[in-house]
Amino acid sequence: MPRLDPHSYFDTDQPRTRHLDLDIAVDFARKRVTGQVTLVLDRPSSGPLDLDSKGLAIASVRTDAGPPISYELSPEEPILGSRLRLMLPPGTGKVVIAYETGPDAIGLQWLAPEQTAGGRHPFMFTQFQPIHARSMIPCQDSPMVRATYHAAVTMPEALTAVMSAGPQDAPAGSAPGTRTMVFDMPQAIPSYLIALAVGDLASRDLSPRARVWAEPATVEEAAWEFAGVEEMIVRAEQLFGPYEWDRYDMLVLPPSFPYGGMENPRMTFLTPTLLAGDRSLVDVVAHELAHSWTGNLVTNATMDHFWLNEGFTVWAERRILEALHGEGAAAASWSIGQTALAEAIARFGADSPFTVLRTHLEGVDPDDVYSSVPYEKGSLFVGLLERTVGRKRFDRFIRAYIERFHFTSITTEELMAFLEEQLPGVAAKVGAEEWLGQPGLPANAPVFRSASLEALTSLAEGWATGARPAAGQLATWSPGELLVYLQHLPRQLDAASCRWLDETLNLTSRGNYEILVEWLTIAAGSDYEPVFGRVREVLMKVGRMKYLRPLYGALGKHPRTRKLGREIFAAAAPTYHALSRRVVESVMEKYDG
Ligand code: BES
Ligand code: ZN
Repeated sequence: MPRLDPHSYFDTDQPRTRHLDLDIAVDFARKRVTGQVTLVLDRPSSGPLDLDSKGLAIASVRTDAGPPISYELSPEEPILGSRLRLMLPPGTGKVVIAYETGPDAIGLQWLAPEQTAGGRHPFMFTQFQPIHARSMIPCQDSPMVRATYHAAVTMPEALTAVMSAGPQDAPAGSAPGTRTMVFDMPQAIPSYLIALAVGDLASRDLSPRARVWAEPATVEEAAWEFAGVEEMIVRAEQLFGPYEWDRYDMLVLPPSFPYGGMENPRMTFLTPTLLAGDRSLVDVVAHELAHSWTGNLVTNATMDHFWLNEGFTVWAERRILEALHGEGAAAASWSIGQTALAEAIARFGADSPFTVLRTHLEGVDPDDVYSSVPYEKGSLFVGLLERTVGRKRFDRFIRAYIERFHFTSITTEELMAFLEEQLPGVAAKVGAEEWLGQPGLPANAPVFRSASLEALTSLAEGWATGARPAAGQLATWSPGELLVYLQHLPRQLDAASCRWLDETLNLTSRGNYEILVEWLTIAAGSDYEPVFGRVREVLMKVGRMKYLRPLYGALGKHPRTRKLGREIFAAAAPTYHALSRRVVESVMEKYDG
């Protein structure tokens, strides 16, 4: 009974799901998804079939021919959820499960109209990575299993659904007041890439194969911000081979979306905090697009190999950025990543197992240990391989890697075997065993420097001894350079310094959230009262975990900001995604007094 994925009841001896057919209704009044899923197995089978489920109420299970299938739902485990064991009668090729989602399904967020830009309609979206598909669909919820899917989704008439599929067919016939949309995903994907959002949505075409979806109130802004996406796809194809997913559409979600972006195939989900008005945050789109190769074509077999998804993708994102905006832009991105990695290693401790790339997370909730480590330590390892063999050979290797493993899910060990086959001796030369298996950052980590970044960081680090940027200099900084500068300033400044910075750099009024949040983190951590109103405004609106963690963390440093943090959280918590709430609670546990 081999269970090879510590986060799933999937059993490799049992049949695999080859296709899912969803027929579901989205019930906003009851905050439930109801309906049925048909699982098509890869072979006619009999005996036990173990599925993942979390909080689901199972109404019935039968074969597609009709006879009921007996089943057993085990008690819920905190991380895995409940094992749903079906006892298949001989020759079973399809099972049909009728069910309803639970009241607090972690993979779904239900938004009241006030939480949307339009303010008139409710909104619902899913976020299934890493292990939350099971809270909406009983399934083999492991990335080791890939399946195609088809879905019929019924919703209130005024709303529109998008999925990680499509393009969708013409709306099917519907009951009064409702509307049913039909989706088809013909490429086999792991369950964590199934995605659904329902709301008042409009779209704009950006190219023949790319479109952006958003609420009507934000769709024009979104179309302007992401207008360059086709050029990005073309550059990415030059680097990594043909784009294999037909369309690249994007959905801009309401601000409670807990991530910056999610690479749902054919429908990347994005936070509206990217709408800076100057296209300065499109690196997140480059990242999600890059997952179309590294992550969605070649997928981590389990969360213990998550760095394969994110490390390769951060490296790929920076190659796209370099191709589009030059080495300076890529260098700034590497520098920002280095700061994030140092913060994560400091938070866990340099000898923590959560700073290792190839992890052993049995008994650990992957959401609890989500950090920059797989991203930044992973991309440094890939960057080191690239530097060691040279770009030309490494680019050939990456293409061969994608071709060899596309539409499969692999382990770190499989990558390393392929590396040894293609580029013999390189792993030993770079010390791959330490990189993959030891905590902290190896001494041979590559450093991506540029003269202008060095100047910026030493200017910032010289703050206490009176170093200040000259007015003429400031005007030439890109948003990325300004961010690097802010990241290297002391974390605590006096009020006069805060005032000088804000007046000189207009920080509190910025629309670029990376800069705004970095600034508010410094200012709140310095107990600088003039920003408290803006901090409240941001925290009452935005649920992106990347911003909640440092802001609530900074508020923990002084008695009156702790009080402010607690007060804001009490008011904002009901509007946050459950994952975001958990992150803030873990930050606040460390508040003293
Ligand atoms: N796939 C991730 C988001 C994710 C990872 C969700 C693990 C749940 C579990 C996505 O591609 C991502 O990395 N997003 C980043 C973007 C950034 C690195 C450019 C984010 O949300 O900040
Ligand atoms: Zn990613």
